[in-house]
Amino acid sequence: MAEKSFPGPRAREWIERHHRVIATTTHDPEALPLVIERGEGVYLYDVDGNKFLDFSSGISVNNLGYPSHPEVIKVVMEQLHRLGHAAGTDFYNPYQVMLAEKLVGIIPGGRPRKVFYANSGTEANEAALKLVRQATGRKFIIAFLGAFHGRTLGSLALTASKPVHRKGFFPWMPGAIHVPYPNPYRNPWGIDGYSMPDELVNRVIDYIEEYILDKLVPPDEVAAVIAEPIQGEGGYVIPPKSFFKKLKKLLEEHGILFIDDEVQMGLGRTGEMLAINHFGVEPDVVSLAKSLSGGLIPIGATIYRAELDFREPGMHSNTFGGNTLAVVAASKTLDIIKELLPHVKELEPLFKKRLREWLDEYEFIGDARGLGLAHAIEIVRDKESKKPDPKKRSVILRKALEKGLVLLGCGKSSIRLIPPLIISREEAEKGLEILEEALREARRA
Ligand SMILES: Cc1ncc(COP(=O)(O)O)c(C=O)c1O
Repeated sequence: MAEKSFPGPRAREWIERHHRVIATTTHDPEALPLVIERGEGVYLYDVDGNKFLDFSSGISVNNLGYPSHPEVIKVVMEQLHRLGHAAGTDFYNPYQVMLAEKLVGIIPGGRPRKVFYANSGTEANEAALKLVRQATGRKFIIAFLGAFHGRTLGSLALTASKPVHRKGFFPWMPGAIHVPYPNPYRNPWGIDGYSMPDELVNRVIDYIEEYILDKLVPPDEVAAVIAEPIQGEGGYVIPPKSFFKKLKKLLEEHGILFIDDEVQMGLGRTGEMLAINHFGVEPDVVSLAKSLSGGLIPIGATIYRAELDFREPGMHSNTFGGNTLAVVAASKTLDIIKELLPHVKELEPLFKKRLREWLDEYEFIGDARGLGLAHAIEIVRDKESKKPDPKKRSVILRKALEKGLVLLGCGKSSIRLIPPLIISREEAEKGLEILEEALREARRA
């Protein structure tokens, strides 16, 4: 679908200018030279007029497509003429309240809850960390290896998906402890978690109980466990079904809270409003961000059991959290996502079937996994050694992009397939075909 030269002359020029004045953040200058000028539905257009089908959703932000759903754009345009910033920490406004009432309603369990508004995922998690520390008086937080919770200094202490995130920034916030995540494909015990899910789950729970709580920190000094229900940056890793129920039981025995980081997997991506719904447990605290405002305006939210609330005004706050443009966009987004859930579930088998076929066919695909419209394939040197092959992953990503499909990596050598939730069956099939062509070529390369 890339119709003209790629990367074209304009793209090359913008990339050069970019690197002169914009901070070195996460762009690999060689890998994906996509300079986006505009988006429409599930398509992106670059500055040279090339058209791309998008299977990346701006890392699960543009879940309603580009630039956003027309109804979200409409409410934002109306709000723009009414009120934007309204010093939400000093004055009251109805827009924040209306969204909070809806957000409270999407958390399982039906208990009284409250909402803290932020501007990003990391900020939503910072609020969660401060909240649980002050509510419990305890200092330690347990997180999982492979997790991504953000890059500010508090959440960074819990992030453990790539050393580059931490390189040069030590020491991290004290009180963070990491334990293995129940990754069915790749775990320290070499257990095949697909055929022996309970064995894997018990191993992780025993590890937390016997090695961490029995030997390292007394349970009554642990404030919370923070987890992604499905690890995103870590590789779209889905733990066995029984994991969170067993984890929650252990935590309840010791009065340890459970923070559910739904920043990437929440809000319909997995076919459920929250990814934790697949596991049947009630979190104490939930973090949301990314797609919450329909991909238009930065927003984050921390939703927590009301009795955990900050004890005094001013203990935690910010300037822009709950900006009224963001909250009206979010309110409309939640309605639209609710309607999209059956569509997401309907497309799940299409992806599962195709990925399973690839897993059988390609020696360099070690694992394929997914739920809803959150899927990944893991690229390895060969099935037996399971050695990650990030180089081949880069080749596949680049080939797909040249053929007009935008994809992103995750984990050490996985590729995530996360189209906007509004994608049609035909568009999804088209994207899968392009990726298959790229896989075929990568086999020959
Ligand atoms: C699960 C999870 N939590 C937190 C974050 C941090 O969000 P942000 O980049 O908005 O700070 C991310 C970002 O990818 C994420 O995937």
